[in-house]
Amino acid sequence: MTVAEARESFARFAESFSDLTLYAAICRGAAGDDDVAGLLLAAQPGQRRPVLLLAALHDLVLSHPDLRAARWYPSVTGAPVPDGDPWPDVRAAALAHADALREVLATRQTQTNEANRAVHLAALVASAAADVPDVPVALVEMGTSAGLLLGLDRYRVEVGAAGAPGAAVLGDPASPVRCHGELRGGSVEGLRLPRVVGRVGLDLDPVRHDDDRELRWLEACLWPDQPERLDRFRAAVAALRADPPRLVRGDMVADLGAVAADAVRDADARAGGRCHLVVFSSWALTYVDPPRRAEVGETLAALAAGGRPVSWLTAEPPGCAPGLPDVEPTDWLGEAAAPDTVLGARTWRDGAELPAAVRGWSHPHGSWVSWRG
Ligand SMILES: C[S@@+](CC[C@H](N)C(=O)[O-])C[C@H]1O[C@@H](n2cnc3c(N)ncnc32)[C@H](O)[C@@H]1O
Repeated sequence: MTVAEARESFARFAESFSDLTLYAAICRGAAGDDDVAGLLLAAQPGQRRPVLLLAALHDLVLSHPDLRAARWYPSVTGAPVPDGDPWPDVRAAALAHADALREVLATRQTQTNEANRAVHLAALVASAAADVPDVPVALVEMGTSAGLLLGLDRYRVEVGAAGAPGAAVLGDPASPVRCHGELRGGSVEGLRLPRVVGRVGLDLDPVRHDDDRELRWLEACLWPDQPERLDRFRAAVAALRADPPRLVRGDMVADLGAVAADAVRDADARAGGRCHLVVFSSWALTYVDPPRRAEVGETLAALAAGGRPVSWLTAEPPGCAPGLPDVEPTDWLGEAAAPDTVLGARTWRDGAELPAAVRGWSHPHGSWVSWRG
């Protein structure tokens, strides 16, 4: 990438996201500025995208709220972006801290842990437990990041508008962590989340609840123009810190068997009986080479062989999770929809696998869900 190409990529971002007051203004500025756009060349090839510099700048103002540039960030001020042009202040901050920014750009990539995915994941967990409602659950998340989704039963999860036909509130209605998604089809009425007695997350690079630096980077990767997402992230981190799940560093395929076996041993002891193992992944299995993904089903079949109820739930792009039936979303959603998250369920009961199902589709961040049940 040349500096001119970097400038062009900022111009394209500004055009595509013109509704984001702050980020569009910063990208318009960078599109005309060799010094700032050129910082992107410090990133690894393949990572040289405007969002990475935007995240590095966001990280800078979150850690230096006294900078003049910080007054333009709703995530720092708690107020909307003020009138005026943020570019002179942001440019000054970028150039004054160019070495620190280059270091971040060279060593990091954007990273997510989106608590609002609890909207479709809570519906998946509740429906997986529908035939074993009184059996406590051990949750194991593959590709967990900081583990925010392992707290899904502790959040207020609104699937559809309150009181609308087919809608439901799952989890803890009084929770300060509020997740919401529009219900575009089907009904989740009557679904109930089971009691969760174990929470274990597996990730190549887990973010611990007490690692302020890494949690700040996760926050920096959110967009400051989207205060609702930031508020939810901060509330979910506070909930996580109050009672953190167990996070294990490892590969979600190679290490799943040992990690899940440990998780059920602990959960069984806590529950005083055999629990239901619920393994899930959300936009994580997609990072595993396709030929390796089928191994997850083999591992879970082995764990289910003794008769333990086992469920494998996936919220992944189309074609990612192996073993799901082909269901054309257009049959269900109509021609208008092109969902990029498929909600899949595979279950083992009494040692045998039941027919796999596509339970629905959703927006990747849970802002809508269409539920087949
Ligand atoms: C896009 S993030 C999704 C995080 C979280 N599941 C969510 O939905 O917010 C993908 C996560 O998968 C992890 N990951 C990617 N490949 C992995 C692997 N082979 N084994 C374990 N974790 C992996 C990454 O480190 C990252 O934390």
